[in-house]
Amino acid sequence: MKPEMENSIKPFVIVTPRLIIIPTPTAVSINSYRSLYSSLHANVAFCEMAFGHHFPPRTWTDEETRDVIQTRDIERCWGRRDLGDFAVALLPSAFQTDSCMELSIVKGGICERLFNQIGLDDLQWVGYAGVRDATTTSLPPREAADPALPPWQEMIEVRYGISPEFWGQGLAKEAARAIMQWSVDEKGVRRFIAETERGNSRSGKLLQKLGFTPSGTDYWKEPSEIEWECPKSHLH
Ligand SMILES: CC(C)(COP(=O)(O)OP(=O)(O)OC[C@H]1O[C@@H](n2cnc3c(N)ncnc32)[C@H](O)[C@@H]1OP(=O)(O)O)[C@@H](O)C(=O)NCCC(=O)NCCS
Repeated sequence: MKPEMENSIKPFVIVTPRLIIIPTPTAVSINSYRSLYSSLHANVAFCEMAFGHHFPPRTWTDEETRDVIQTRDIERCWGRRDLGDFAVALLPSAFQTDSCMELSIVKGGICERLFNQIGLDDLQWVGYAGVRDATTTSLPPREAADPALPPWQEMIEVRYGISPEFWGQGLAKEAARAIMQWSVDEKGVRRFIAETERGNSRSGKLLQKLGFTPSGTDYWKEPSEIEWECPKSHLH
C-alpha cells in the first residue's frame, strides 16, 4: 500500500538494528498498525500499568482509532512541533544488515522505495513510542503561583507502550533511544521529561537505562506519579 502523508510531513523512517520506526502521520493509514494500537488501549493490564486511573481501557472501532491518532497525535503533536508518536515494528530480516550503526534516518525517494518494498501492512508491529511537547499536550493548565517553565525544547515528554509479548527484549529501549536521538539531532530538543505511575517499576527501570533520573518536579501535579528528566547529554 502507499501510505498517505498527512499535514505535509515529508516521509521518513528511523531504522535501528532490529526495528523500523514510522511516524504516525504515515502509520495512521496502515490497517494492521491501527489494529495493534487499539488492542493495546483495550488491554486492562496494559492501561492500568501505563496510565493508572487517568485512562481506563477503551474499545475503539477502527474509525475511532483513526480519529484518536489523528486528533491527539497528528494534529496536537506533529502539527504543532513537528514531533510526536511513532509506530514501532520489527525490521524484516531481509532488511537487516551487519552494520553496527545504531540508527539511520531514511528520507525522500529512498524512503518511498523502502515502503513499496516492505509492505507496511505485513509488518510485525510491537507498539508505539514518541516524544511530544508536554506544555501543549499532557500538562495541566498552569496557575499564577506556578514557577515559570523552561522553553519547550526542554519540556519534551517521552512515551512508549510495547505489546506484552515483546517485553524483555530491549525493544522499548531501542525504539525510545532512537527517537530521542532523532529529536536532539533534527528538532533541537535539549531535555526530556517523563512521568510514571509509582508502581510502574518496569517503566522506571527503562527510563534509568535511557539516562533519566527522578527530577523532583511537579509539572503534572499528580501525587500518584514520579517525574523524571534526562538532559540530552545524559542520553544512553
Ligand atoms: C514499560 C515497557 C515499555 C517496558 O518494556 P520492556 O520490554 O521491559 O523494556 P525494554 O525493551 O527496555 O526491555 C528491558 C529488558 O529486556 C532485557 N533485554 C533483552 N535483550 C536486550 C537488549 N538487546 N537490550 C536491552 N535490554 C534487553 C533487559 O535485560 C531488560 O530486562 P531487565 O530490565 O529486567 O534487566 C513495557 O512494560 C510496556 O509497554 N508497559 C505498558 C506501557 C507503559 O507502562 N508505558 C510507560 C508509561 S509511563
